Amino acid sequence: MTDKLREHSFDGIQEFDNKLPNWWLFILYGSIVFSLGYWLVFHTFKIVDLPVAQYNKEMVAIADAQLAAAMEGGITNESLLMMVDMPESLAEGKALFDQYCVVCHLEKGQGLVGPNLTDNFWIHGAEPVNIHHIVTNGVLDKGMVAWGSQLGPKRVNKVVSYVMTLKNTNIEGKAPEGEQVPE
Ligand code: HEC
Repeated sequence: MTDKLREHSFDGIQEFDNKLPNWWLFILYGSIVFSLGYWLVFHTFKIVDLPVAQYNKEMVAIADAQLAAAMEGGITNESLLMMVDMPESLAEGKALFDQYCVVCHLEKGQGLVGPNLTDNFWIHGAEPVNIHHIVTNGVLDKGMVAWGSQLGPKRVNKVVSYVMTLKNTNIEGKAPEGEQVPE
């Protein structure tokens, strides 16, 4: 095979016009085919999750497993606190609060018929298990509903974890009731 020279001269420099080697072309066309497949699988048809989504799924599964383990000994301050760190479950808790609790406790928990949940005064105790107890069993003669039977235990846990995020946000609202607890 003789090397072919291109006719053009660029600044006095001439180039050979050789066929590109097959291994090089193989990589070029291979990458094009691969990128097309990748695009279809990951982006167009979303058959496989992208790494970030895979990671998030795994983290949720781990958090659920940890929570299940923590719940084995029953509801504890620790298991309820753990739920505060689980964004998806906390978001559900907020949605439940917005749906069922704001009529009496208002949208920020600042209180109306029910007490202000954002101050550091609590009638029935400020610990997560205290809040869990009151939300589950209610105070029927005072007008606080027993949510345990209405929402079921899982949703009660979620809404309780959300109430814990309102604690000490100190929104101006209903005057303090109950006993002061350290912040
Ligand atoms: C119909 C009105 C009403 C609704 C709806 C309501 N509450 Fe209450 N809640 C009250 C009242 C009244 C009290 C005060 C009970 C008392 O004086 O012992 C109270 C007390 C509480 C307490 C205890 C506060 C403390 O100082 O110890 C918590 C926690 C609470 N509610 C959470 C919730 C959550 C969570 C929801 C929604 C799932 C909810 N409440 C829905 C009326 C309501």
